[in-house]
Amino acid sequence: MPTSIDKIEHLREQLRHHEYLYHVLDAPEISDAEYDAMFRELKDLEAAHPELITPDSPTQRVGARPREGFVKVRHSSPMLSLDNAFGEEELRDFDRRVRNLLGNEEYAYVAELKLDGLSMAVQYRAGNVALALTRGDGETGEDVTENARTIRSIPLRIPKRSGHWEVRGEVVLNKKAFAALNAECEAANQKRFANPRNAAAGALRVLDPAITASRNLEYFTYFLFENGGFACPTQHEALENLKELGFKVGTHWKRCRNIDELVHFCDEWETKRESLPFEIDGVVAKVDSVAQQQRLGWTAKAPRWAIAYKFQPRQAETVVEDISVNVGRTGVLTPGAVLRPVNIGGVTVSLSTLHNEDEIERLGVQIGDTVLVQRAGDVIPQVVRVVRKGEHRRPFHMPKHCPVCGGETVRAEGEAATRCINTNCPARLRESILHFAARGVMDIDGLGEALVDQLVNQRLVRNIADLYRLTAEQLQGLERMGKKSAAKLREHIEQSRKQPLPRVLNGLGIPFVGERTAQFLAEAFGDLDAIMASSEDELQRAEEVGPKVARSIRKFFHEQRNRELVERLREEHLQFIYAAPKRTGGPLAGLTFVITGTLPSMKREEAKERIEAAGGKVAGSVSRKTDYLLAGEDAGSKLAKAQELEVKIIDEDALVRMLEGTA
Ligand code: IVH
Repeated sequence: MPTSIDKIEHLREQLRHHEYLYHVLDAPEISDAEYDAMFRELKDLEAAHPELITPDSPTQRVGARPREGFVKVRHSSPMLSLDNAFGEEELRDFDRRVRNLLGNEEYAYVAELKLDGLSMAVQYRAGNVALALTRGDGETGEDVTENARTIRSIPLRIPKRSGHWEVRGEVVLNKKAFAALNAECEAANQKRFANPRNAAAGALRVLDPAITASRNLEYFTYFLFENGGFACPTQHEALENLKELGFKVGTHWKRCRNIDELVHFCDEWETKRESLPFEIDGVVAKVDSVAQQQRLGWTAKAPRWAIAYKFQPRQAETVVEDISVNVGRTGVLTPGAVLRPVNIGGVTVSLSTLHNEDEIERLGVQIGDTVLVQRAGDVIPQVVRVVRKGEHRRPFHMPKHCPVCGGETVRAEGEAATRCINTNCPARLRESILHFAARGVMDIDGLGEALVDQLVNQRLVRNIADLYRLTAEQLQGLERMGKKSAAKLREHIEQSRKQPLPRVLNGLGIPFVGERTAQFLAEAFGDLDAIMASSEDELQRAEEVGPKVARSIRKFFHEQRNRELVERLREEHLQFIYAAPKRTGGPLAGLTFVITGTLPSMKREEAKERIEAAGGKVAGSVSRKTDYLLAGEDAGSKLAKAQELEVKIIDEDALVRMLEGTA
C-alpha cells in the first residue's frame, strides 16, 4: 500500500523536524495543537497498518509497558568524574599544572556551563539509538534505554552517521519543569525534590517510561565518541558536530584562549546564572585539543585536562524571626519561617518554607534560631539546618485553630499534614478558585490573586460554580476592572466550560488528584458520574490509583457539599464525559498470534512474552480471528488449519522484524 507508506513516512519526517525545532532549537514553527494533530494522524495510520510501525517512529518513544528492573551494563569506556576548583585561585592552580605539563606550548580551553543534572551515555548503532546508560559507578551504568527514548531532544535515528558511536551528556530538568513537578508532589502530599538533579534522576530511573515521558527531561550533549575515542580532534569541533547531528548542546560555551578569558567566563556566568532556564552549579573547562588532552592524561579518578569550577553555594545565614502558617486549598496548614531579610545570590529572601510539623522537628528549628538558608533551583528557599540556637528561642506549635477562619485543625494519623477541616474556610475557597482557574487546569486567564480576594471577600463567589454566574456589572464594580477587562474575563470563564473532563477533575481539588491522576481516572471511567459512583476497589482500576488516592476520592464525593458543587457544575454544562483518544500501545497492538512448532532460537514462552509486551495477543488455537501464525519446525495441525483459513504464516525472523518494527 504505497500511499500509506508514503504518508506515514512523510508525517514522521515532519514530526521529527518539528520535534527538533521545538526540543533542540527551542524555536517551534507550528503550534502544539498542529503538532498534536499530526501526531494523532500518524498514530491512527499506524494503528491501521501496524506492520508499518518502526521503532524510530515518533509515536514509539514510549514503549508498551513498564519494565521489571534495570540491568547493569559496562560502559564502552569509563565515565569518570571531574576534579573541582573552588574559587579563582584553585582555577589558576589547575591552569598552572596544565601549562607545566604541556611544557609551555600554546593551548586553549573550551568552557561549558556545568548543568546540574545527571550524566548519561547514549550509544547509536547503524544510525539508531541502541543503548542508554546512566553513569552508575563509572564502570557500569544502568540500562535506561526505554526511558531515554522518551526524551524528545534525543534523536531516535541519525541516518547520516552510520556505524557504532556514542554521545555523552547531561540529563536535566529545567527550572520551570522542576517547580511544576514539586508543586505536583506537594498536591499529592509527597516529598518534594531538593534540587533539579535529584528530580531528573528520579524521572530517569523509574521503571515506567511513561512517567519519564511526562517529566519533560532534556538532554544536553558534550562528548562524541567513535571507535573507543573522541570522534573529533578538538572539543569545540565536537560540540559543533553534535549540534550539526541534531543534538542539543549548551548554547553558552566559549573557546577561551587563556586563563584570564576562562576566569572571566566563570565570573560572568556566576552572576548571570539566574537568567538561565536551567540550574547550573559551575563551569566545566576542558583543554580544547584532544592531542594535548592525551598528553595530559588521567589520574585514577579524573582527567588532568579538565576541571569543574564550582560556583559559590547560594546559601546564607539568617535569623528566624517568626514561624507563620499559610492555609492552602485543601485546607493544609503550611508553616513558613519568617526570616530576617538576607541577600542570597542577588535575591532578597525573607520567607522560607518549613513544609510541615515533621520537618520542623527534623530540623529542630525554633523561633529566634540562626539558620542556614539555601536557594536550590526552586523558587521557595529552604532551611538547611540550624547554625546557632537563639538565646531566647521559643518552640513553634501547630495552631489548634485555623489562622484564617478559626475552625478546628486536625492532623490525621499517618499524615504529615495538618488541615483546617472547615470546608467553608475563606482561605480554602480562595486557594481552590486560584487552582481551578490556573493554567493547565481550567485556564481562566486574568483570574489572579487580587481579583479572587475581592470576589471572596465581597461574597460574590462562594464556590467555584459561582464563577459561571458572575455578571459584567458585578465584575466592573471591582477594583482595577474596566469594562474591557471584565468582558474579557467573562469570555475566558465562558470558554473554560469546554475544558475536558480531566481538567475539571483536577480543578475540583480532590486531595491527591493532580493532572496525571485526573487523566487516568477520566480514561478509565470516561464519565464523572461513573467515578462518583465507584467504590474504593473500583476506583483502583485506574492507572496509578492506589488505596490512598481511592479513599481520598470517595471521601471527597461523600461530602454533601462537594456533591452539591458537582451538581452546580453540571448545571453550568461543564464537561462530565470524556472521549479518550484511542491508545494503541506498542507495534503489535490489536494483533492476535498463535504459536506452533519449535522456533530456532526463542522458547515459545519467550515469544509469547515479547508479543504481549509489544501489545499483541497470543491465542491457543487458530481461528478466523487469528492474524498471524508463528510457525517453527515440526508445526502440525495448526499450520494446516492456518493454511486452510488463509491466516498469514510467519517465522521467527519475521516476528523479530515486526517487533523491531522493520517488517
Ligand atoms: S565533562 C570526564 N561537561 O559534571 C569528564 N561534565 O563534576 C566528565 N557535567 O559527571 C564530564 N555539565 O555529570 C562535563 N559540560 C559538561 C558538564 C558536565 C555537567 C556534570 C557531569 C559530570 C560532573 C562532573
